[in-house]
Parts: sequence; structure tokens; C-alpha cells
Amino acid sequence: VSLKAWNTLGLEARARYYLAACSDVQAIEAMERAHAAALPVLVLGGGSNILFVGDWQGLVLHVHTAGKKLLQETESEVLIEAAAGENWHALVMWAVSQGWGGIENLALIPGTVGAAPIQNIGAYGVELKDVLEQVCVWIAGEGIVWLKNEDCALGYRDSIFKQMARGDYLVLSIRLRLQKQKRPNLSYYALKQYFEEKGIVAPTIAEVAQAVIDIRRSKLPDPAQIGNAGSFFKNPVVERQQFERLRAQYPSMPFFEVDEQQVKIPAAWLIEQCGWKGKRRGAVGVHEHQALVLVHYGGGSGSELWQLAQDIQKDVLSRFGIALQPEVNVLGGD
Ligand code: EPU
Repeated sequence: VSLKAWNTLGLEARARYYLAACSDVQAIEAMERAHAAALPVLVLGGGSNILFVGDWQGLVLHVHTAGKKLLQETESEVLIEAAAGENWHALVMWAVSQGWGGIENLALIPGTVGAAPIQNIGAYGVELKDVLEQVCVWIAGEGIVWLKNEDCALGYRDSIFKQMARGDYLVLSIRLRLQKQKRPNLSYYALKQYFEEKGIVAPTIAEVAQAVIDIRRSKLPDPAQIGNAGSFFKNPVVERQQFERLRAQYPSMPFFEVDEQQVKIPAAWLIEQCGWKGKRRGAVGVHEHQALVLVHYGGGSGSELWQLAQDIQKDVLSRFGIALQPEVNVLGGD
């Protein structure tokens, strides 16, 4: 089965077995059978965070479960539940249309609801961690369990799921706690600036969602037009000592405080400094408006893109002494 249509980079790769599961029961049965047969499983949602550098020698389980509902409501809050196969952005827009705030800053993030807790999706000052109540997950050898937010070890693009072997767990649904009188979160500079320019002092959650959509569209390529998987690398977190040394050398270097010991540096800036922004190499390249996004123009291969990524890593390492880590899952290689 070709996976080309199922990864937003639009790269050709094949799966030995493929199953689209429309119910939890069907999906769990497939996981259990694959497990018993020692067949590697790749659980696929929107395919928006994956780089195939080769074929997948196992089962690709495509999660197509649907359903979103209101579970509980008080004067100030709601608890909602959504199935893993739901589209994340559609969930955001549904919540916004109901007047429930908390995820409007996460508008237009590609992918599915089930993928959201795995990398603790985050953008424009909000992370899933801030609103996640529970995750319903099937775990090999354990069955179905409900994990609470604090059980999930959610960090920057990180969770307990990243410590489990791929194929040993399957997210079935998530529960989010949202606010009815949500004060907008404008902590992210680009968002604050957007409303200042428009002269809007207290935007509604719908306006915040629209702002995030506008900002994202202005710098992130639409996978329907140019293959990409969003940010290719994580923003590196460095020790303060190393940060101070770098800052002395590069006074204009942007940064975000993490805590007393650590500082986060935008990978996009490091890549841009190395001259990679907007560079094209055959069928692959670095996006012209966002150096953190690698793109596939079509007709290229996963190994070509991975080679480009490794060359970028090499340059950033030798110039800044920082080892960039991929944010996308690199799959199918040896
Ligand atoms: N910058 C550059 N060159 C560029 C782009 C950005 O120097 O080409 C610098 C600028 O100083 C800018 C700063 O980087 O102010 C931050 O840029 P941006 O707001 O675009 O955010 P980012 O750090 O590049 C992260 C997330 C994005 C998320 C945005 C907004 C990661 C790996 N990426 O990108 O998430 O949308 O913040 O919150 O944390 C994703 O994970 O796929 C993703 C797109």
C-alpha cells in the first residue's frame, strides 16, 4: 500500500499491511493481533509529523474513529471528549463556535486529536498540557486505561508516550477542560502585536483563533500546496552558561527563558544564520518564510530530505555547538 497520500510531506513510501480502523474495538483488535505476531505497528493520524526515509515493514494502522461531545458543564467550565481520529483543527473550531475557550491558540495545527497528547502540541503561548484532563489509551499488556494529565509527563513536544515503544500504545480519545469566560492568552509576541496593529484590546476567542490562522498562513506552507511537516526540528534548550557565551558572540540572538538554568533558542534563527533559509536542493528545501520548516516540492525522496536535514544539523553544530533534534518522527530507515 502506498503511503504517499497519508503523509503531509507527500513522500512515496509503502506499508506491508494497512488497516483503516473506524472503531476503538477494531483498532485494539488490530494492535493485539500485530503484537501477538511481533509485527511492528505504525499508528497513523494525519501523517503531519512523519518523514518516511524508507518503507514500513509492518502494519500501518490508520485511526479513523469519530465523535466529539460535551460531557459536563458548570457555570464556568465544560469537559469535552473527542475521539482520536477527529481532526484537531475541526475540534478547535467547534469549541470556539460553542464559546468554549482554551484551545483557540492551537487553531490550524494539522493532524488528529489522537496525536495531540503524544507530542503535547503547542503554539502561540498555549500547550495541550494546559487544558488536557485525561487520555484514554490502550497499552500493550494492560488494556484500556485512563491517564490523568499528571500521569502523562507532558513537556515541550514530549510525553510519557514518547518513552513507550511505537506500537505498544494507542490513544483512543482525550478529554479537555475548557472555559466559558476565557480571557485571551496573548502572551506570544506575534499574537500581541497582531491585535495591537488592529487596535483590538480585548479580543474574543473567535478573534484569537482567526489571528492564529492568519499568522500561521502567512509563514507556514499549506501541505496541500507544498509538502511539509511543520517544524522539522525542536527548538533547542541550552544551559545558561552556553547561552551567555553565545549571546556575547551573537547579541541579536532571540531567546525564550525556560527556567533559571535553561534557555530556549529558536532553531529557525540558528538555521537562518547558517544561510539555509529559502535554499532549495532538487526536490527538497528550506521554506522561504520559516527556516524551521523543510519542504518537499514533489518528486523527491525521503532520503533526500533527510540528507538535507542532516546537513543543516551539521552546520548548526559546527557554528553554534548545538545539536538540533528532529521534531518529526523519522521512520522506515534501517
Ligand atoms: N525566526 C527566525 N527565522 C525564521 C523564523 C523564525 O530567526 O525563519 C525566529 C524569530 O526570532 C522568531 C522566532 O524565531 O521570533 C520564533 O519564530 P516562530 O514564532 O515562527 O516560532 P518557532 O519557534 O519557529 C514554534 C513551534 C511551532 C509553533 C510556533 C508558534 C517548535 C518546534 N515549533 O516555532 O510549532 O507554531 O512556535 O508558537 O516548537 C510545529 O511544532 O510543527 C510547529 C509549527
